[in-house]
Amino acid sequence: MRVLMTGAAGGIGKEARRQLAGRYPLLRLLDMVEIEPAGPGEECLVVNICDLEALTAAMEGIDCVVHLAGMSVEPESNAWEQVLSANIAGTYNIYEAARRAGVRRVVFASSHHAVGYYRRSQTLTGTIAPRPDSYYGVSKVTGEALGRLYADKFGLSTVSLRIGAYRAKPTDVRHLSVWISPRDMVELLRCSIEAPLLHYVIAYGMSANTRAIWDNREAAVLGYRPVDNAEDYAAEVMSTGAPELEEAKPFHGGWYCAWDLGSHGLFID
Ligand SMILES: NC(=O)c1ccc[n+]([C@@H]2O[C@H](COP(=O)([O-])OP(=O)(O)OC[C@H]3O[C@@H](n4cnc5c(N)ncnc54)[C@H](O)[C@@H]3O)[C@@H](O)[C@H]2O)c1
Repeated sequence: MRVLMTGAAGGIGKEARRQLAGRYPLLRLLDMVEIEPAGPGEECLVVNICDLEALTAAMEGIDCVVHLAGMSVEPESNAWEQVLSANIAGTYNIYEAARRAGVRRVVFASSHHAVGYYRRSQTLTGTIAPRPDSYYGVSKVTGEALGRLYADKFGLSTVSLRIGAYRAKPTDVRHLSVWISPRDMVELLRCSIEAPLLHYVIAYGMSANTRAIWDNREAAVLGYRPVDNAEDYAAEVMSTGAPELEEAKPFHGGWYCAWDLGSHGLFID
């Protein structure tokens, strides 16, 4: 398995590089910023994912692309322009370059903000209709849709991971439901890379949290067995954790739902 990982200089990318070192004959690391020098079995490339030709060349000989690059939050200014370029056009380039280069699978870092406006009273599955809570969430819905298109039209195996809150440990009450530890995150990536015979899957990126509000049976199909649990930090979070905005409390997406898109009220019923 020869793997290309985009966004390799980012938080998840660095951790995945560390934990997956030596696992594959080739781990090609790509980012638009400089990456720490290549070790054994690694190659490093500075490429902007907005450059389709360079991206196609970077995918030569690759079996699986792990796509982490892009805006990883809702930008505070010019949000639409930024997610349009890095996340929507950029993710189109990933799928199109993968098709041209004959890649067999793409693992896409989506986000639970693709379904953030559902209420926490409802447990979400991977097949529930999108309900984004931000322009960032819209970009992740678009990335998931591109994966579905390239799977159905071109037979490119695709996995979209609706990642929760990736942190060393949970820091607020909502995280007790949606946290994913670094260890579980990389294990979920590994399962997504290596699971046989997949057409199209959407799974949630979370640890084995007691307070889970996502039904993650699709991740189990990938072979994912998380080992960490946010509940281990519950006492600490309850006593010192950041308080949650009242308006954000009903929704899966938390404060993203209380984030004004610029001009008018935003709360749904
Ligand atoms: N961290 C989380 O809690 C979380 C939650 C849900 C989803 N995700 C998704 O997981 C992915 C990785 O998250 P992260 O926390 O490591 O993000 P990060 O911001 O730490 O890293 C993103 C990386 O992408 C690179 N990048 C940005 N635009 C690029 C471009 N045009 N071309 C090439 N490289 C580019 C950046 O240089 C950076 O190294 C993101 O797609 C994010 O949306 C993360």
